[in-house]
Amino acid sequence: MKFVAEKIVQKNYIVVLVCLLCVSCSQKNEEQNITWSKHIAPIVFKNCTPCHRPNEAAPFNLLTYADAVKKAQLIKFVTQTRYMPPFPADVNYTHFANELVLTDEEIAQLKTWVENGTPRGDSLQEPKTPTFYSGSYFGKPDLIIKPQKPVQIKGNGTDVFLIWKFPYEIERDTIVDFVEFVPHQRKLIHHVNGHLISYDEKRSFNYFSGENISADTKSQLMEVYKQMHIPYTDQLQPNFPTLTPNTIYYLPGYIPPVYPKEIGGYKLKKHGAFLLNNIHYGPSNADLLDSSYINVFFRKTPIQRSIRESQLGTFGLSNIEPEFIIPPNEVKTFHTHYTLTSPISVLSVNPHMHLIGKTFWAFALKPNGDTVPLIKINKWDFRWQYYYTYKHPVKLESGATIHVYGTFDNRNENPNNPFHPPRTITQGNGIESMKTTEEMFQFIFTYMPYKEGDERIDLER
Ligand code: HEC
Repeated sequence: MKFVAEKIVQKNYIVVLVCLLCVSCSQKNEEQNITWSKHIAPIVFKNCTPCHRPNEAAPFNLLTYADAVKKAQLIKFVTQTRYMPPFPADVNYTHFANELVLTDEEIAQLKTWVENGTPRGDSLQEPKTPTFYSGSYFGKPDLIIKPQKPVQIKGNGTDVFLIWKFPYEIERDTIVDFVEFVPHQRKLIHHVNGHLISYDEKRSFNYFSGENISADTKSQLMEVYKQMHIPYTDQLQPNFPTLTPNTIYYLPGYIPPVYPKEIGGYKLKKHGAFLLNNIHYGPSNADLLDSSYINVFFRKTPIQRSIRESQLGTFGLSNIEPEFIIPPNEVKTFHTHYTLTSPISVLSVNPHMHLIGKTFWAFALKPNGDTVPLIKINKWDFRWQYYYTYKHPVKLESGATIHVYGTFDNRNENPNNPFHPPRTITQGNGIESMKTTEEMFQFIFTYMPYKEGDERIDLER
């Protein structure tokens, strides 16, 4: 009996050993056989090509095997360091829909592939390069609104702030799903914020004529709007067309959030215009023309639940503490907080700072003391300012307090500091505070009033 048992044990041991050998040798084989066709192309096409293609944000294409081979060493480097794909939010703190994050395994495969000399594998097995619509991150829009004329930017090294009107006319009233601002001079455009103005067909108007672009963002806005022929031309009241605020938005790296059909959407009248009440170009050293344009995507279903937006901090609902002054040679943290008076479902969040931003952290405290994590950015990067959309709406109950902490690094050692030696940086005055070299500390969030079951809505695109 004893003998049999020993034999079984021994046999098992051998089986296990053989198995282990098999696994490790097949792993070794797998590792050596990482090919473009089988492993790498799917990673690149999914995670890199949406930006690394013509007319998108990235400086070179990653569409083919040859493209990837040419940049192999750099690809290995930027994925090892997690610099690419760009996604500054810490996904160990909160997860988001459509996260641009490679798995550890994908990163290891990219490394092995480069170190093994970028083998192609069986080119017959290669997945086809996905086809993208050129001129949009999303695909073919239902309406493209081109500018009436391009903006002329002088190469005099100063920031430019403009108001820019994009009039349109469509066949009949419809509903917009979302709008995409497509920057032409991508490197210069620092931010865009705009409204939709809609005309009542029964009134008289001439919004296609008048000034198209105004450099005057400081004087009486009503005067500027008159020069742009925005008000109605009859004598009836109200004189000003209907305004749907904040329908256009752009920041470096921004990709508009897209929600499921039961969420969001707004009316687009037959006659109207997008009014960029503020487009900001950073300083340029060369004379340039900018022909940015607007893509509109329609929605075939009626509006069920509209989205609202609020912001804390600069220009927002809550004050910044202490006063927002960042002295030279200091790393300083600021705080802002706000208590909700009704329950909401948060859809997406957009942390905003400028060049010397260092870290950003937002969470909510429930009345019972529990914490709801919202977002953490451990290394702020001015170039990537997403609207981070949650996988499912995040419920914040009435009485919950949102806390936001932002740290700014105004030391000489900070390579992103626009001033060497450093100077006192504040938020400046009004619109001018939007200069890149001044700072902002903002937490923007989009939400809906809470409804039972919101936590289960899937927001993945
Ligand atoms: C959201 C858009 C986006 C995605 C997705 C993206 N990139 Fe990029 N990439 C950029 C932009 C913009 C730049 C140029 C600005 C910069 O270097 O920060 C860039 C630069 C690079 C560079 C050059 C870096 C340097 O220092 O010269 C490499 C290499 C690169 N990307 C590789 C990749 C790879 C590999 C992926 C996928 C795993 C990827 N990128 C995904 C937008 C993107």
